[in-house]
Amino acid sequence: MQTFRKVIFSGIQPTGNIHLGNYFGAIKRWKELQDADHDCIFSIVDLHSITLPQDPKALNEGILKMTATLLACGIDPQKSVIFQQSNVKEHAEFSWILKCITTMARLGRLAQFKEKSEKLKEVPLGLYVYPVLQAADILLYKTTHVPVGEDQSQHIQLAQDLQRVFNHTYKSEVLVRPTALISDGPASRVKSLRDPAKKMSKSDPDPRSYIGLTDPPELITNKFRKALTDFTSEVSFDPENRASVSNLILIESLSTGLTPDEICERNSNIDTGKYKLVVADSVIEMLRPIQNNYHRLINEKGYLISVLRDGAERARTVANKTLSEVKKVVGLSLEY
Ligand code: TYM
Repeated sequence: MQTFRKVIFSGIQPTGNIHLGNYFGAIKRWKELQDADHDCIFSIVDLHSITLPQDPKALNEGILKMTATLLACGIDPQKSVIFQQSNVKEHAEFSWILKCITTMARLGRLAQFKEKSEKLKEVPLGLYVYPVLQAADILLYKTTHVPVGEDQSQHIQLAQDLQRVFNHTYKSEVLVRPTALISDGPASRVKSLRDPAKKMSKSDPDPRSYIGLTDPPELITNKFRKALTDFTSEVSFDPENRASVSNLILIESLSTGLTPDEICERNSNIDTGKYKLVVADSVIEMLRPIQNNYHRLINEKGYLISVLRDGAERARTVANKTLSEVKKVVGLSLEY
């Protein structure tokens, strides 16, 4: 019997403060997939970051910090390919080919574009075509599964559409249909500590809204102290009517593996004010080994660069092969 090989691809922007949402929604699952022996490719998507203005020095540092963070979380360069997107030129070239089969109407309907462009007076073209680059990232590796948080689901649908349109237009079977892997639990959308109607976000101007993976313990405690709660002092789980307290319970649940019911039972004798410190402690404990690894790795610049260099080489081999096939069916490959 022929076995179906799973090819996992996902990406993360090296900008902003990487937080618990990124960890539970993406990186933790990447590690699980890596440890289940699938072919895993993870990209630090710097070309996506420059769709909004970035300070060049901070961007460079962000790339190294993200590399150290992924390794600290257990992404293992012996098992997975980890690379910097702009080091593999095929992404930009392939995205051009996909742009030629994408309509403006399709891109204009995407929620994330609407949300981000609303805040800007002049909208950069890169922000608009960003999801096509994301589709190129995915399709270039003949990816079968894309582990992401819920906020990315429309972008994966676009990748699926472009795969279908490309194969149909060029009467080929070169591109493979990717499927989104989105958790069906709270990990798919970890919410802001200041407003549970919003997701925890790297670009939130209020740093109290998220817990950064490298936030020191005192800062984590302070942020939880200031987390929004309501006027009921009891610790009870009711996501509909008590969204803010329920969000804290879900964060503890994700950090410890306890169920919301178990958490409420254990904390039945304290009020939500004291409970905030319990959640803070559980997150601090969960992050401790990651932070220890991070502080060691961030000083090993030479090693981090070698991981990225090696990863780019491995990624390029696959990307180049797919792009050659693509160019052949599109009519861009005369043999001289
Ligand atoms: P980015 O960098 O914004 O986020 C990285 C990953 O974290 C997930 N995530 C969350 N999950 C749960 N709760 C949250 N509050 C939360 N916030 C973020 C995101 O869903 C994502 O999985 N466009 C992508 C990067 C990208 C990509 C790709 C992803 C570029 N090319 C190809 C997959 C495949 C982005 O900006 O993710």
